[in-house]
Amino acid sequence: MSTTAPAAVYWDPYRPDFWMDPYPTFRRLREEAPLYRNEQYDFYAVSRFADVEAAFNDRETFSSSRGDILEYIKADMDIPSGMFIWEDPPAHSVHRGVLTRVFTPRRMNELEQRIRAFCVRCLDPLVGAGRFDFVADFGAEMPMRVIGMLLGIPEEDQVGIREKVDAALRTEAGKPLEVSQASYKGAGFEEYIDWRAKHPSDDLMTELLQTEFQDETGARRKLTRQEVLIFVNLLAGAGNETTTRLIGWTGKVLGDHPDQRAELVKNPALIPNAVEELLRYEPPGPAVARYVTRDVELHGRTVPKGSAMLMLVASANRDERRYENGERFDVHRQGPPHISFGRGVHACLGSALARVEGRVAIDELLKRFPSWTVDFDNAKLSSTSTVRGWDNLPAFIGDGLARAARARAPQSAAPAQSAAAAQDGEAWELALSTPVGQQNLSARIVRNGATFTGTMTGEMGVQDITGKIAGNKLSWTLSLTKPMAIKLSFDATVEGDAMSGKVRFGMFGGGALSGKRI
Ligand code: HEM
Repeated sequence: MSTTAPAAVYWDPYRPDFWMDPYPTFRRLREEAPLYRNEQYDFYAVSRFADVEAAFNDRETFSSSRGDILEYIKADMDIPSGMFIWEDPPAHSVHRGVLTRVFTPRRMNELEQRIRAFCVRCLDPLVGAGRFDFVADFGAEMPMRVIGMLLGIPEEDQVGIREKVDAALRTEAGKPLEVSQASYKGAGFEEYIDWRAKHPSDDLMTELLQTEFQDETGARRKLTRQEVLIFVNLLAGAGNETTTRLIGWTGKVLGDHPDQRAELVKNPALIPNAVEELLRYEPPGPAVARYVTRDVELHGRTVPKGSAMLMLVASANRDERRYENGERFDVHRQGPPHISFGRGVHACLGSALARVEGRVAIDELLKRFPSWTVDFDNAKLSSTSTVRGWDNLPAFIGDGLARAARARAPQSAAPAQSAAAAQDGEAWELALSTPVGQQNLSARIVRNGATFTGTMTGEMGVQDITGKIAGNKLSWTLSLTKPMAIKLSFDATVEGDAMSGKVRFGMFGGGALSGKRI
């Protein structure tokens, strides 16, 4: 009898299908290849929490001097002075020190009211629309506005600058990021720097221009215009797309966990903890890279000097060796903190600001939109190897899904009876726990004695249903042809405005059904 050995685990940081759900591969990497070698793209990767943390903390072996993005390390370019995320001490300590002096907690806290005012202004007009894109309508706007507030950039110019910053990180699907010496010269802040130099104000740009410090040669001086430009680009690059992704993941993950979302609506005091859990569960920066400066032993093998090392933050954050039920999202989670802001000398300088933005954004979102269903047909995961998240994450708000179903129903080949059912009757928002995760659906039914007719709407589109009624019990079936032919059988009990029950997925087992009348 011949047996086939399971295929060795393979991780490709550029394949879009891996990024769609990297976690099963990360789990295998942690178990089967804690030191992973990718020959094709010539890098090593560590995936267990302990290894990722140790690499962050060992700045002498794992250097930032060639960048912290794989493609930049491979391109081996000159890094301009002041780009301190890509410097080692002593230059890093000096430059980070300058920014730390002006990037104070007081300044962050002062921003909170202005961030909230922006959220109100952005979200209020969307109330009642029935539909809303977490990223395009909100997440892509807010972080750049905040950096603009911090730096004193006029509102009308903030969007153009954000587009340039984002474009520098965007990749073609399936391919590495294209880098060149010009890549980090970045967005056009020059005119603001020159203008601010002549018109000082109470903003961070002014402080950067005026602060005196002792540089790595011992000389006392101010930052050069070029260094200020690099600092500002670094802030815009590091603080913009990362925070946008956090807001996108908020829409996706809370959409997948409506019970926990409802808890946050009821008890907003849980929101700060939810921000930490979102950052752990779906970190906007899933991998950080380093240049290896000396031969180093890891898991019984030698990583040679001159290699590129990827630290898989997103894998470390779910490592069961550190996090109990690491693969489970839990807004109540206590215990060790995540590693999404890095560790060691380069630990994120904007973490306090990112946390304020996340907390205020979720608070203002939930006040207006306590429930939603993500429209995955029209969602788009962004194509970048550095930050992972959604470019578009549209969602149906409140009865928006039912409204969309009504709008779509007459165009389907549905029999007249069920088209009628789609327009009146009872509307329900349902959540199914399936073997592959949670599915959100809406149903609209019209009762007729011991039977009912209606429609169910979700990722599979709008489907007709007919079912039976016995007292407060409903049962019905739904036959799907895509992504495979499968019959779903539902048995539910209605109590007031709540529905609960079971669903069977043909031969694939069962799951739980819960729902509420809308
Ligand atoms: C959710 C949002 C954010 C995430 C997940 C994040 C993540 C990170 C990570 C992992 C690092 C370490 C990189 C390395 O070790 O090579 C880092 C560094 C940095 N971040 Fe953030 N960041 C976020 C938001 C921000 C914001 C809002 C700002 C400022 C406006 C910011 C500014 C910086 C800076 C300046 C560094 C470089 C620190 C150094 O090299 O000493 N970040 N960030």
